[in-house]
Amino acid sequence: MSTPDDLRIRHAVPADVAPVLAFWREAAEGTSISDDPAGVGRLLARDPEALLLAERGGTLVGTVIAGFDGWRCSAYRLAVHPAHRRQGIATALLAAMEDRFTALGGRRVDAMVLEANTRAHGTWGAAGYIREDRWRRWVKPV
Ligand SMILES: CC(C)(COP(=O)(O)OP(=O)(O)OC[C@H]1O[C@@H](n2cnc3c(N)ncnc32)[C@H](O)[C@@H]1OP(=O)(O)O)[C@@H](O)C(=O)NCCC(=O)NCCS
Repeated sequence: MSTPDDLRIRHAVPADVAPVLAFWREAAEGTSISDDPAGVGRLLARDPEALLLAERGGTLVGTVIAGFDGWRCSAYRLAVHPAHRRQGIATALLAAMEDRFTALGGRRVDAMVLEANTRAHGTWGAAGYIREDRWRRWVKPV
């Protein structure tokens, strides 16, 4: 698979927050507890290089959050616009994310993927990720 030639990947800036939230409503799987301007703004304030955007001709076509807290590398919000899928955009975003993690000294990437999201299983699997059966997610809102 080749990366689209006209694809540009860049870090999001505060002006991107509203367009990204609108994009996720159309392109992402499910919602996050942090899907609001305060939540995404806090992400950018804490780590201005964490939210990666893929653009084509200035149009937002994909996102991923490449979160690194000094301990774990965590991927969130991988999403590609429905009209631009199966063209290597997620693959390009994951490569850019992994470059960032490598540069920061990260050692392994974690991604939470819904069990029912078989389309995503194909994408993570194609990028070399392996599903682990030993863990369950434990959560508590604070
Ligand atoms: C999952 C998603 C991000 C994939 O984006 P994409 O840009 O279409 O993915 P790519 O084109 O880079 O695909 C890479 C590989 O993943 C696999 N893949 C992608 N979509 C697939 C599908 N619908 N069915 C099976 N495998 C798929 C294929 O192996 C593909 O390679 P190929 O096209 O050469 O066969 C996109 O479908 C999406 O945004 N879905 C909704 C949000 C979501 O589920 N995000 C993941 C949350 S964990």
